[in-house]
Amino acid sequence: LEPPVVVVPKRVQEEEVDDGKKKVTIFFGTQTGTAEGFAKALVEEAKARYEKAAFKVIDLDDYAADDDEYEEKLKKESLAFFFLATYGDGEPTDNAARFYKWFTESEPKGEWLDKLQYGVFGLGNRQYEHFNKIAKVVDEGLAEQGAKRLVPVGLGDDDQCIEDDFTAWKELVWPELDQLLRDEDDTTVATPYTAAVAEYRVVFHEKPDTFSEDSIQTNGHAVHDAQHPCRSNVAVKKELHSPESDRSCIHLEFDISNTGLSYETGDHVGVYCENLSEVVNDAERLVGLPPDTYFSVHTDKEDGTPLGGASLPPPFPPCTLRKALACYADVLTSPKKTALLALAAHATDPSEADRLKFLASPAGKDEYAQWIVASQRSLLEVMEAFPSAKPPLGVFFASVAPRLQPRYYSISSSPKMAPNRIHVTCALVYEKTPTGRIHKGVCSTWMKNAVPMTESQDCSWAPIYVRTSNFRLPSNPKVPVIMIGPGTGLAPFRGFLQERLALKEAGTELGSSILFFGCRNRKVDFIYEDELNNFVETGALSELIVAFSREGPTKEYVQHKMSEKALDIWNLLSEGAHLYVCGDAKGMAKDVHRTLHTIVQEQGSMDSSKAELYVKNLQMSGRYLRDVW
Ligand code: 2AM
Repeated sequence: LEPPVVVVPKRVQEEEVDDGKKKVTIFFGTQTGTAEGFAKALVEEAKARYEKAAFKVIDLDDYAADDDEYEEKLKKESLAFFFLATYGDGEPTDNAARFYKWFTESEPKGEWLDKLQYGVFGLGNRQYEHFNKIAKVVDEGLAEQGAKRLVPVGLGDDDQCIEDDFTAWKELVWPELDQLLRDEDDTTVATPYTAAVAEYRVVFHEKPDTFSEDSIQTNGHAVHDAQHPCRSNVAVKKELHSPESDRSCIHLEFDISNTGLSYETGDHVGVYCENLSEVVNDAERLVGLPPDTYFSVHTDKEDGTPLGGASLPPPFPPCTLRKALACYADVLTSPKKTALLALAAHATDPSEADRLKFLASPAGKDEYAQWIVASQRSLLEVMEAFPSAKPPLGVFFASVAPRLQPRYYSISSSPKMAPNRIHVTCALVYEKTPTGRIHKGVCSTWMKNAVPMTESQDCSWAPIYVRTSNFRLPSNPKVPVIMIGPGTGLAPFRGFLQERLALKEAGTELGSSILFFGCRNRKVDFIYEDELNNFVETGALSELIVAFSREGPTKEYVQHKMSEKALDIWNLLSEGAHLYVCGDAKGMAKDVHRTLHTIVQEQGSMDSSKAELYVKNLQMSGRYLRDVW
């Protein structure tokens, strides 16, 4: 039996045993677990191919206690792979942030990594401007510092099929590893590897008499983070659009008094919401077990040894199937190919199994792209189409339905005004998919349906936690600020303005500020209109400029208003202003960036490359910050 893959726990000083095996280290920077899963999948397959090598999978955060240790340890590595996700505005994942900062900001050390051979696989999304930035930067940085690149950097694209990108990249890795990890006398031909379907061990329990779903306490931790969110009640809920709107935008306030939670203006809140009950009903029917089945999942075998290598998220607490489907299963996104294979393995109708396997195979690539990805077919829709595929619970929660992830929102309040509340401004996701299904966003729908304390003692609550961000007002309140945030991109600026108002009321002198907001129509979706006007009246905001995109004959967007105000923007920048952009990354933030470049070029009488340098310098010095999604 192969030993299981070992994830080296936090700061364990492992003793290096020289067993003559060649050592390979696989690092991951993961947010939702995909990079970690790929890292482990590579190792599983490599272990089957190369018996004379030892593999270690390492969370980048756990690798070293400080920068010196990163350097000291990395110097000793001879063969390493990096799986690095990029998210937000070209940022590293939380667990790779410390490594990335050290790697990109430390003093040049020359070609100090000349012993290292490496490969990098990136996880990103081509729709975003900084596609796979982290992987590209690390890949190039390693080469610059003397390491030898074994394979071109893999650019996984989550907009298409990232599993295919990973498979294609692996095909480049094997010939290299064959050379490095096979003995010359080893003439065995690598047998094709088929990944086993990962599963939890499941234990069914009698439902305890005193059990109540709501009694699960998520509080009581000294520190609240993604693993230890804090139960928090919905205090207030308001619709921000007027009744004639065909859309919805919700203002929600979480009560954080007596929770130990705190936040700063500009932070994000992560919300663990539940699937809608109609979705849970469908899921129950498709899984085919009674909703009150009470069970627990485990990542070890009955004798306590870990389940081999599979990348399983940590088990959730024992609960009923209904609770597990509501809180822990993402059943509305399209299934990955591994999920189709897991379904195929448990389809009793052979023709269904064949079709599922085909969809997951290289031959079925186009069909998968069409029937699953382009159609936005949800996992539930796929299961509906393959009724004989009824995986057991351990397989369903490990390999079929990914774990439901928290959703992040830019907090729209300031603790200076609302120390006991976290405000969220959330646009409802409600759209028709190509199959005719109405896709209701999990968290925005939950918020839309939430029952606030103002309506009932028995109000809605959710586990939440605060994620620190670097989206901050200048530390000196006299420094001018330029804010650009159409739609719900307004959220953090409402927080900024609350903060400035509180400062002003306390007698602090403020620098000038200008806000560009955009919406469709003054009467319909001009959210927080009264509050914004009040910020102007009180002097917290010097100028409010609104672009209405659907009032006149042509579209007016925030970037058009910026062009009209080019001279003012240039003057403020020349005075040292900080510029902030929040909202949609795919369209708006890109267009605003281009407009900013033009303004700098024209107002500063620079050529295009000088203007680019100017904007880059703004970014590098923390004066041009973006909170985009
Ligand atoms: P539209 O829906 O009329 O196209 C908030 O969503 C506002 O941002 C809306 O007024 C929307 O206009 C506008 N918007 C859409 N695409 C944009 C882009 N690329 N740049 C700036 N604003 C945009």
